[in-house]
Amino acid sequence: MNDSSEKRSGRPRRPDTSLVTAGRNPRSYHGFVNPPVYHASTVLYPSAEDYVAHRARYQYGRRGTPTTEALESALAELEGPRCAGVALLPSGLAAISTALLAVLRAGDHLLVTDSAYGPTRQFCEQILSRLGITTTYYDPLAGAAAAAQFRDNTRAIYLEAPGSLSFEMQDVAAIARAAHDKGALVLMDNTWATPLYFRPLDHGVDLVIQAGTKYIGGHSDVMLGTVSANAATVTALKNMVSYAGLCEGPDDIYLGLRGLRTLSVRLERHYRSGLEVARWLEQRPEVLRLLHPALPSHPGHAIWKRDFTGASGLFSMVLKPVPQQAVYAFLDTLELFGIGPSWGGYESLAIPFDCAPLRTATRWQPGGPTVRFHIGLEAVEDLLADLERGFAALAAAMN
Ligand SMILES: Cc1ncc(COP(=O)(O)O)c(C=O)c1O
Repeated sequence: MNDSSEKRSGRPRRPDTSLVTAGRNPRSYHGFVNPPVYHASTVLYPSAEDYVAHRARYQYGRRGTPTTEALESALAELEGPRCAGVALLPSGLAAISTALLAVLRAGDHLLVTDSAYGPTRQFCEQILSRLGITTTYYDPLAGAAAAAQFRDNTRAIYLEAPGSLSFEMQDVAAIARAAHDKGALVLMDNTWATPLYFRPLDHGVDLVIQAGTKYIGGHSDVMLGTVSANAATVTALKNMVSYAGLCEGPDDIYLGLRGLRTLSVRLERHYRSGLEVARWLEQRPEVLRLLHPALPSHPGHAIWKRDFTGASGLFSMVLKPVPQQAVYAFLDTLELFGIGPSWGGYESLAIPFDCAPLRTATRWQPGGPTVRFHIGLEAVEDLLADLERGFAALAAAMN
């Protein structure tokens, strides 16, 4: 019988094994394989004295249940030995805002990668600014030179690598060293790689954010955010979550736990199929270039190869210049690629995008229209046939 709390061999488990064993202990729930889902607000205490002394393992639904602990402990095991605690939030964006609010104070300066997820920028500009926290943006290709933008009051730097539309890679360890030298903390959105393919805490990151909505959930049916903290930031994170009254619902946590069990096999397929489709697209005459860090043609490929152990199914394509209507004809013809936000589910997606309105430190000039793909679990041959039809529609729209 599995028992994640008792590793009798004393050896750390490999991630594939942790995905199966972590966060569950069938012995404590009658042998059923999966943990029960606790729907809870009130928790009853054994006595008035215990209640007054807060003497209870669980105190109130909002403050965590065995269901919360199951996913938190499973994620902590995946994040590696530097992980001192995990918080579960109602969305990836809530994880981003909670992590930032946990460490920033009035008067602080925050450095953010210019390639950050759009709503992250919006939070900085609309909310942090109101609290007296200023944000400036740095070139995602600057590497440790981003440190030149540190000010005396820079409290933190926020990374996302690769960018989830534009896919710039960053030397996370070098940036983290430069930040720590200046006394600043490092936050990173690691949704693209998940801790299976990159463990930011091992590279000096202090707070790791994931939109569990994507690969952890894996089925496009849940909103979930996670923040993993090292010893330097765990108290600030847990206090922020507690003071702001943040928690995730039990059924959504359960969907996260359920998704986690198959994360490795799904990601491996997303990785393999994504790369196959990207290589095929790279050879197409309509395509200018691919933005996929696992392709040798990508400017960030060496960093990806050095630091990451895999790639997810999300990447972008730059087309040779064509009218926007031809791009729409391409996308509208696809049958197996849905047009919609988010990614990380079992299904393929394709969306047009433009990073230009989101940039302030760099100029977005890709050289042609851009499309982002999420490659799902369908047969690659069918996806390629669908794309072939899309390119035929693109050509027809030009005539
Ligand atoms: C890279 C990245 N981070 C965070 C988020 C936010 O996650 P959620 O949609 O769960 O709020 C997204 C959503 O698309 C994302 O792509």
